[in-house]
Amino acid sequence: MKLLVTGGAGFIGSNFIRHWLKNHPQDEIISYDKLTYAGNRDNLKDVAENKNYKFVWGDICDLFLLQKTLRENAIDTIVHFAASTHVDRSILEAKKQKHAKDVVDLFTESLSSDFVLNNVWGTQVLLEAALKAGVKRFHHISTDEVFGHIPLESKSKFNESSMYSPRSPYAASKAAADHLVMAYHNTYGLPVTVTNCSNNYGPYHFPEKFIPLAITNLLEGKKIPVYKPGNQIRDWLHVEDHYRAVEMVLLRGKIGDTYCVGGMPGEISNLDVAKMIVKILGKSEDDITYVVDRPGHDVKYAIDWSKIKTLGWEPQKDFEHGLAETAAWYQQNEWWWKPLKEKNKEYYQQQYGN
Ligand SMILES: NC(=O)c1ccc[n+]([C@@H]2O[C@H](COP(=O)([O-])OP(=O)(O)OC[C@H]3O[C@@H](n4cnc5c(N)ncnc54)[C@H](O)[C@@H]3O)[C@@H](O)[C@H]2O)c1
Repeated sequence: MKLLVTGGAGFIGSNFIRHWLKNHPQDEIISYDKLTYAGNRDNLKDVAENKNYKFVWGDICDLFLLQKTLRENAIDTIVHFAASTHVDRSILEAKKQKHAKDVVDLFTESLSSDFVLNNVWGTQVLLEAALKAGVKRFHHISTDEVFGHIPLESKSKFNESSMYSPRSPYAASKAAADHLVMAYHNTYGLPVTVTNCSNNYGPYHFPEKFIPLAITNLLEGKKIPVYKPGNQIRDWLHVEDHYRAVEMVLLRGKIGDTYCVGGMPGEISNLDVAKMIVKILGKSEDDITYVVDRPGHDVKYAIDWSKIKTLGWEPQKDFEHGLAETAAWYQQNEWWWKPLKEKNKEYYQQQYGN
């Protein structure tokens, strides 16, 4: 295969590329990434010299560069990770004051939402380029957040038939992207597959997301900020289980199908995750502090992954073990996360205060 991986310099994309190069040494991979604040070429420093790997600094909104890259590298498979991904940033951004003077200004202003630009428009441009290039597969990475949330007391789970009901600007932009992907399949016959997965964790996770933020804060002698009241429930998927799921769908998935991917057999609240991290790092529960809840905060996600199980996939990482390994990785790789936190300290200040 000749793969173009968009968002290959991000958390999941880089872990996927490293795995694919190791498991499919005959294949060639182009990592195509705009290098936003979340993109980091250091994530793939260890494979930079691999002859089957190449990096292209590019934007998925740039049709010309996409077409050139697909053509020159005879790409037959696109794995689409690139997106603006941080829910809190999507909320801050939507709240920004807009001062449009006229219609043109209004149009430009509306495009200043990175979430709409990268996740919706970018996906549409990429679909167009994929169609023109005649790729054999377009795999789209999406999230369970497109389905909204589940009441805390409910035992129901999201599955492939769940209704779309996104609740944050991020989730809404991902939902729009999912619809565009399926529309290109139904209208033009583009051979697509989609995975909707739960919250990932693992190495190279940008340190503003909950688990890496909690770990690195403790390592810096700071507290873990937990959104009040801390009872929100998430399904946690180790990034290794996620990239194996994407691999399984690429190799055995049915064209035009969607697969839900989750990682937990039971339920765990954010506060309990914080307590586990405190214990792993030998700290005290006094190192957990509550912060004002995120507006419209989804209370619970739970995923039924029985469909992808029929392809032969199931999560292998037990959460407790995966979390301890992840904490150890952050302990050993300060060189990776310290500069990222320093560079983005304005964001942390704005979001959590001191
Ligand atoms: N992290 C999670 O828990 C999670 C859960 C469910 C789904 N997802 C989805 O998985 C995908 C990857 O998430 P992640 O956590 O690795 O994100 P990330 O923020 O770590 O990485 C995103 C990457 O996309 C790149 N990018 C953004 N806009 C781009 C553009 N216009 N052109 C080219 N590159 C661009 C960034 O530079 C970055 O390298 C996303 O589509 C996300 O919605 C993530």
